[in-house]
Amino acid sequence: MTNIVTIDNVEDLRAALFEHRCARESIGFVPTMGFLHDGHASLMRAAAAENDVVVASIFVNPLQFAPDEDLDDYPRDLVGDTALAREAGVHYLFTPVRDLMYPIQPVATTISVGGLSEGLEATTRPTHFAGVATVVTKLFSIVGQCKAYFGEKDFQQLAIIKRMVIDLSLPVDVVGCPIIREPDGLAMSSRNTYLEGADRTAAAVLRRALDAGVAAVDAGERDPQVVMSDMAAVIESEPLASLDYVAAVDAASLEIPSTLAGEIRLLVAAQVGRPRLIDNCGVRI
Ligand code: PAJ
Repeated sequence: MTNIVTIDNVEDLRAALFEHRCARESIGFVPTMGFLHDGHASLMRAAAAENDVVVASIFVNPLQFAPDEDLDDYPRDLVGDTALAREAGVHYLFTPVRDLMYPIQPVATTISVGGLSEGLEATTRPTHFAGVATVVTKLFSIVGQCKAYFGEKDFQQLAIIKRMVIDLSLPVDVVGCPIIREPDGLAMSSRNTYLEGADRTAAAVLRRALDAGVAAVDAGERDPQVVMSDMAAVIESEPLASLDYVAAVDAASLEIPSTLAGEIRLLVAAQVGRPRLIDNCGVRI
């Protein structure tokens, strides 16, 4: 198990990383909002396997929450998070407070990534991705040159960050990592803690909807609308779930093609009890 150092200010983190860079050590970076689970740990383990030094950040970023969302209630557990991060190979845990990340409020400079930030999640969360892109740019600016690890769980977020790094020539190599699931197929998420009683069982319906989409494609279906209605029917068969969207998109453009071909991503979002859950999977034709 590694030794872990918690740092809450930019100067100390930059000074520590400067030493590692002078020693020609590579840096892996995992940005998170905390309440860590095995999905986060998988990113940290990937970073530890491929780099000499691993930095993880925990910052519940107010810019990416809409006023009616769960910013104040977002689950937190710094003690548990520190233990999980240490176990997963993290050397530095960066835990800035809000005023450190946003010293002058309201923030005047934001990053918006066109095209990919429209549709899917943005339909119900129109300001979300500008908040994500802005904080991730700030974190990249603080950490500097690194390999940064993101989960495919947030597939649209991953696509946006990859594009942003190219457009802005950021010195970051973005690595996408597979979705980690509970035994019943529910994708791990910090917000799963909001699932109570029967809602927890019902939440596995998202995975079943994706399975139905994959089965339709495997059976030869090439019309995205038919695949999407098969997926929607599964969500609608679960009384405790309320469908937000299903989509069968081109994995690079995130647009619904006229005919399914190449690398396709199936995505689903649904409210189950209190949380709004998202999930996705890839299918190649
Ligand atoms: P958070 O939801 O804490 O997720 C941090 C990282 O963990 C993201 O890259 C996310 O895709 C990944 N992740 C979450 N659940 C996962 C799972 N079940 N399997 C694999 N990876 C998983 O995403 C954010 O925070 C924020 O938007 C952030 C990028 C930190 C910017 O604030």
